Amino acid sequence: MNMSENNIISLEDAKKQLNCLMERLSKSNREELLSDAIQTWSGIKFGVNSGDDDEFENDEDTMDDPVATLNSIAKEIRERVPLDAIFPSETIIIPSKGENSNCCPNTTVHVDAFLYDDDEVDDLEKEGKLKRYYCRDCGSKNIEPLIFISNSVSREDLYHIFNTLLPTLDGKIVLDVGSRLGAVLYGAYVYTDAARIIGVEMNKDLCDLQNEVVKKFKMSKRIEILHKRIENAADVLASADVIVLNNAFEFYLSESEQIKVWQFLKANIKRGAFIISRPRIAIALSNLKTNIKADEWVKEVTEDSTEKKSNLFNMESNKNVDQFTEIICYKVL
Ligand SMILES: C[S@@+](CC[C@H](N)C(=O)[O-])C[C@H]1O[C@@H](n2cnc3c(N)ncnc32)[C@H](O)[C@@H]1O
Repeated sequence: MNMSENNIISLEDAKKQLNCLMERLSKSNREELLSDAIQTWSGIKFGVNSGDDDEFENDEDTMDDPVATLNSIAKEIRERVPLDAIFPSETIIIPSKGENSNCCPNTTVHVDAFLYDDDEVDDLEKEGKLKRYYCRDCGSKNIEPLIFISNSVSREDLYHIFNTLLPTLDGKIVLDVGSRLGAVLYGAYVYTDAARIIGVEMNKDLCDLQNEVVKKFKMSKRIEILHKRIENAADVLASADVIVLNNAFEFYLSESEQIKVWQFLKANIKRGAFIISRPRIAIALSNLKTNIKADEWVKEVTEDSTEKKSNLFNMESNKNVDQFTEIICYKVL
C-alpha cells in the first residue's frame, strides 16, 4: 500500500479498500454506507441536526439526492419505532370482509415498506428478526408463507407517485389522509415543488414522531402535521389539489365509520383534484354501503395523460413499474 508520511493514501488504494469493504456488506448496508458517505463528504449536507433551531431551513436546491434523503429518514425512524412500526396506542382492526379478511394476527406480519425495502427485509430474515413462514401443525414441514402487510407506502412507490403518476405540483397543496410515519410527506417534499404538504393523522404518537422527523430533517417550511381525524378537517380536504389515500381506513376504522368517512371525502374533495389511491376506489368501496358510484365521482388518469416529468433525480433505476399498477391516480369529476 502506498502511504505517505501524513497518512494520505493514493486514490487507487482507497478504491481497493472501499471495494473490499463493500464486498463484505449486504446490498442494503452498502447503499446506506454510500448514502452516509455522500452526505458527510460531498458538502451537500442536507441539514440534519439535533438542535432546536430551524434557522437553516432545508432548501430545494440542496435536495440533490432525494433517494439518499428518504433512506436517511427511514433509518432514523427505524431506530425510533418497534420492529412492526405499530405503536401500543394504536388499535388495528382485522377487516371482516374483502381481500384482507384473512389477515389474522397469528399468521400476519406487519413490515413497514417505507422503513424496510426488499433487501432490508432479507437482512432482517438473515439476522433472525423476521420469519417468512409458519408451521401449520407444529414440528412438521407443513409450512405456509406468512402474510406480509405494510402500513406505509414504500420508497419506490413514492418515486412512482410523484415522478410518474402526477403532473408537476409547483405551488400546489398535497394532503396525505392518515399520514402515519410521514412517508408520503417526505416523498412529496423531496420529489415535488408543492407549496404545502399536509398530513392529517388521528394518532398522537405518530404525529409526534412525524413532527420530530420534520424538525430534524428541516422540512417544516412546507410540511405540516395535523393531529386530528380527517372528518374534522373539511377545510384542508377542500383546499387540497392532491389527496393520497393509501388504504387509510380499512385496518383502523369500523365499517360504519368507514362508510361515513368515504361520504365525507366525496362531499368535500374539490372537482379537478387528483386522488392517489390504493387499492382502487371501486375496490375500497365494494364492501361498504356508501351509495357512492366511483365512476361518477372520479376518472382514472392514465400515466400518458399526465404531464410526465423527466427523471430529474439520480435514481438507481425505475425498474418494475408494473408492480405499482395497483396505485391509481384519479381526477375528481
Ligand atoms: C395505512 S396507514 C397510511 C400511511 C400513509 N398514508 C402512507 O401511505 O405511508 C393509515 C393511517 O391512517 C390513520 N387514520 C385512519 N383513519 C383516520 C382518520 N379518520 N383520520 C385521520 N387518520 C386516520 C391511521 O391511524 C393510520 O396511521
